[in-house]
Parts: sequence; structure tokens; C-alpha cells
Amino acid sequence: MLNPSQQIMRLGLGFAVSQALRVIVELGIPDLLAVGEQSVDELAAATQSDADALYRVMRLLAPEGVFREVLPRHFELTEVGAVLRSDRPGPGDFVRMINSEAYLAFGQLPYSVRTGKPAFDKVFGSPRFDWLSEHPEQAALFQRAMVALGQGANEAIAEAYDFKTFTRIVDVGGGHGQLLSAILARNPHLSGVLFDLPSGVAAARQGAGGDLPRTEFVAGDFFESVPTGDIYVIKKVIHDWDDAAAATILRNCRKATPPSGKVLVAETLVPAGDEPNQIKGIDVVILAVTGGLERTQAQYAGLFDAAGLRLERVIQTRGPISIVEASAA
Ligand SMILES: C[S@@+](CC[C@H](N)C(=O)[O-])C[C@H]1O[C@@H](n2cnc3c(N)ncnc32)[C@H](O)[C@@H]1O
Repeated sequence: MLNPSQQIMRLGLGFAVSQALRVIVELGIPDLLAVGEQSVDELAAATQSDADALYRVMRLLAPEGVFREVLPRHFELTEVGAVLRSDRPGPGDFVRMINSEAYLAFGQLPYSVRTGKPAFDKVFGSPRFDWLSEHPEQAALFQRAMVALGQGANEAIAEAYDFKTFTRIVDVGGGHGQLLSAILARNPHLSGVLFDLPSGVAAARQGAGGDLPRTEFVAGDFFESVPTGDIYVIKKVIHDWDDAAAATILRNCRKATPPSGKVLVAETLVPAGDEPNQIKGIDVVILAVTGGLERTQAQYAGLFDAAGLRLERVIQTRGPISIVEASAA
């Protein structure tokens, strides 16, 4: 049992675990351990690393549940560590993405807390998505990370909502297309539009998120306009933006849809109270990286009002994501 000072020390060292995870993913250690336990010397030779330094990083991650040190300086993968193997879709790409440029921006969190503005823009000289547009490799990693995060969640959204009465679905900021793919697979009567910046559309065209039959790919800027359709899904997009920007995106959806159309915002709602929830961590990262925020149900209702929409209902999927459904006010 840690005493209060030790608990604070452990919290304060959180970045060490986070960066250590990034290192072992970038070195491909989980892949090397897929065949069974190995010594640190073997792993270091295979990854051209310093054996003692690698040992120290792996020793840090073992008590966190990623490895087991089965003999001195010999490690095997645990069930938790196995999700970092690159031969299966998983959170390894998320770990790499969040610990690269987003991590550098996060180092300036005090600036964001003082000003309420995204530190990313100050550190990198341009907003996050503009920067990604100029860094194709990082943009592709970002899209892979989003696919990893969406595993299971997109299927859960597709099964939780009844799309029967609609004909043309627009996935706004759909990126890699995993959600649209899951919805189209269950709803053969629907045609789809995948709308995103060119880097997102490129990932979707390459099939990063799955098959996209009956789909039109449209590259554009949702602050200008969005393609027409009778149902809109906007997943994990609104949380990237402050209220004024988010209302503009939603208003553009309302303008493009007939009065009977629906706008579905798919996000994890911030629960009331003190219980631990990953969304509270993501919320603070988003503050520093894009200037957005995670919201409560009441905050989404307020956003819809500002965009000329009305919150109709909230459907909790079997995953962490809720579907917040709106129609024209
Ligand atoms: C956090 S990702 C979510 C992607 C996907 N909906 C998902 O749930 O995985 C936000 C998406 O918004 C897209 N995006 C950002 N700014 C945009 C803009 N101005 N116009 C269109 N898409 C944009 C990004 O390219 C990215 O694919």
C-alpha cells in the first residue's frame, strides 16, 4: 500500500510509463516476443538497442502488466502486452500517435490551462489538423490510431441505431471509414458518403477501416459545407472543437439535410461525479492538442441549440460511446 506521497510520486511519473510503451512499440518488442520469451540481450540485438537501457524500460513495464520477467532479464508477453503486436489491430498505433507530437504539445499544458487555448498551435506553429495535412506519415499514423480506437465501438454504433427509414448517410469527418463500413454492411439499402480532409479520404479509399461499397468519397472542409444526405453521423469529431467551431459544423449538417433528416453525434459523454473514466484523460489531452473538449449530455443539448438543432434522445451503445440524436429545431 503506497502512502500519500508515494501515490503522488507514482502519478507524477505517469509520463515514464507512457513513453516507455511508445519505445517498446516502436522497437517492435511485442512482435519479437510473439513467439515466446526471450532474453533482453536477444531483444536488444534484434532491435539494435542498448541491452541495459532496454532492460530498464521493460522492467518498468512488467509490473504495469505488459510483460512478465520469467527469469532474470528474460521477458514474455502478457495478455495485455499482446494487444501491442502489430499483426492484429490494436492500440499500438494509438500509443505511438499520442506519444509523438501530441506529447510534445502536452508538455505545454500549463499554457493551455492559463489561456484555454491549444498548446499544439504554439509549439508547432499551426493547428493540429493543418499540421497533419502537411505531415502525411503522421496523418496516416493518426488514421491507423483512430481505427484501433474504433475497434468494437463502430460495430456497436452500427447495431444500436435503426437506419431503416434513411437512404443516404454522410459520415462527417469519417476518416478511415470504419464506422461507415460497419453501418453499410448492416444496411444494404443505404448509400454512403465518406467526407473528410484529403488525408482521411485517402485512408478510407485504401480500405483502412474496411469495405465501403455504395460509397462516394468527398474531400472537403466541414467548416465550409458538407455533402447532402438524410442522415449524418459525426463520430469523435465534435470533441475536437470548441463550442463556436463545433456549432458551425453542426449548423452545416442541418443546412444540408431535409427537415426530416437526423444528425447523430457519436461521442463518449462525460459522466457526472468523481468516478474514474478514460474520457477525462482524453479531455485534457484534447485541450492541449486541438482546443476541443469532451462534453456532458447537457453541453451537447446546448451545442445543438446554437446550431438550430434539437436533442431528441441519447442511445447508449454497448461500448463507451453514446449516440446523441438531433433533428432540425
Ligand atoms: C478524431 S478523428 C475521428 C475520425 C473518425 N470519425 C473516427 O471516429 O475514428 C477527426 C476527423 O476529423 C477530420 N477533420 C478534421 N478537420 C476537418 C475539416 N476541416 N473538414 C473535414 N474533416 C476534418 C480529420 O481528418 C479526422 O479524420
